Amino acid sequence: MKPEIKKPIRVDFNNMTADFIGGKEGISTRDLNKVKPLAAAAAKAYDEGRGKGMMGWTELPYNQEETVAEIIKTAADVSKNFENFVVLGIGGSALGPFAVFNALCHLRHNDLPKKKRNAPRFFVEDNVDPERMTALLDVIDVKKTVFNVITKSGSTSETMSQYLIISDILKKKIGAEWNKHIIATTDTKNGNLIKLARANGFKTFYIPASVGGRFSELCPVGLLPAAVLGIDIREMLDGAKYIDGVCADNGDIFSNAALMSAAMQYIAIKKGKNISVMMPYADGLKYMADWYCQLWGESLGKESDLNGEKVHTGQTPVKALGVTDQHSQVQLYTEGPFDKVVTIIAVEKFRKTVKIAKGCEEYPNVNFLCGHTLNELITNERIATEYALFRAQRLNHTIILPSVNAYTVGQLIMFFQIETAYLGAMLNIDTFNQPGVEEGKNAAYALFGRAGYEAKKEEIKSAPKKKKKFII
Ligand code: PA5
Repeated sequence: MKPEIKKPIRVDFNNMTADFIGGKEGISTRDLNKVKPLAAAAAKAYDEGRGKGMMGWTELPYNQEETVAEIIKTAADVSKNFENFVVLGIGGSALGPFAVFNALCHLRHNDLPKKKRNAPRFFVEDNVDPERMTALLDVIDVKKTVFNVITKSGSTSETMSQYLIISDILKKKIGAEWNKHIIATTDTKNGNLIKLARANGFKTFYIPASVGGRFSELCPVGLLPAAVLGIDIREMLDGAKYIDGVCADNGDIFSNAALMSAAMQYIAIKKGKNISVMMPYADGLKYMADWYCQLWGESLGKESDLNGEKVHTGQTPVKALGVTDQHSQVQLYTEGPFDKVVTIIAVEKFRKTVKIAKGCEEYPNVNFLCGHTLNELITNERIATEYALFRAQRLNHTIILPSVNAYTVGQLIMFFQIETAYLGAMLNIDTFNQPGVEEGKNAAYALFGRAGYEAKKEEIKSAPKKKKKFII
């Protein structure tokens, strides 16, 4: 890795401030001064919580030497011997691997000829739509495929159903060696997957007990798929380490961008900005926005605070893609309700340059584009959107990536995780639980008649019956 591409990400907060977008909507120095103590306390909570409880993710950039070596070895074997690598998982066990794949691999990876790909074709199956499972099986040969079953709890219905379907097919088509086609990524002792892994001799990687699903991209959940794709996972961890270094022991919002961002979002929430739009201006980062939506939504959307008070807090995360969504959503962002904070992700140097050809000299309204590049076009359109939002007095800020590489992607992941932890601390909530998700999982178990969920089944039965007149 050349040293010049080990550059830090930066955040431009100007358009969040009253100086820029005016005192009515913008964040004033007074607002910032008021939250400074709360922000400093959140930074302290981060430092004090490191590695404890569900904050094991803070240590992942530092404590995985052996695991990383084992992952790289396994990835090389997979790459050499298989044509397809399929992740079976959902939520935090799927969104990170897919986001990193899209950010750091060729945008048409699976369509490239094998020689140009240098890695297996890659699929993340995070739904149980029967048509999707059938479609996957139509395009892969299971004999040439490794399935990475990822589930922390080892009991998620979606993932375990996928496991059952695939293991049945593997047994029938491959026989005794079927177990070589499954790699399990799960908890060291809890759940069913670890039991199955031991009973069947699957290669297994572990999710530390102190790392929750949506904070797990930098452990084997994300590192194994990334390494199989040829991504430099040490660089990703280095990027994360860099951001952690900036944030550690740093309660100053003016030198800790993750803390400034959390403080500004906190102020925005208190001013009724209930929506957080994540809008990368790069196709490769489109699914980073998906990953962010889970992190933000599941971590901060909480009914009660740590004192047991009902707070119903959180911001609804919305994903958008620049420039595509300028032609669908930006109208709403500039003229609709004043209820959003827009986070733009900018890329300074794209990995490719595409020139816009000449050939329309007689049409000045098209000719102005000729001789420029798509790089200039996407950049100017991003600046134009920032300007339009500024002009409409809408809170927006821009995260600037010098370029998209393993180092900056590692930074981005850690940045959002730490920002989320800071904001959760400022909101005085449990950032790391997900009772709302568990409720849905439990209701599904009950509907299937799983033992131990009889009371839930009765509860569901006693819900009011649907009225025909409202089904039209
Ligand atoms: O963040 C979370 O905890 C959830 O989104 C989980 O990742 C998701 O529900 C999948 O859980 P598991 O990995 O246990 O299958």
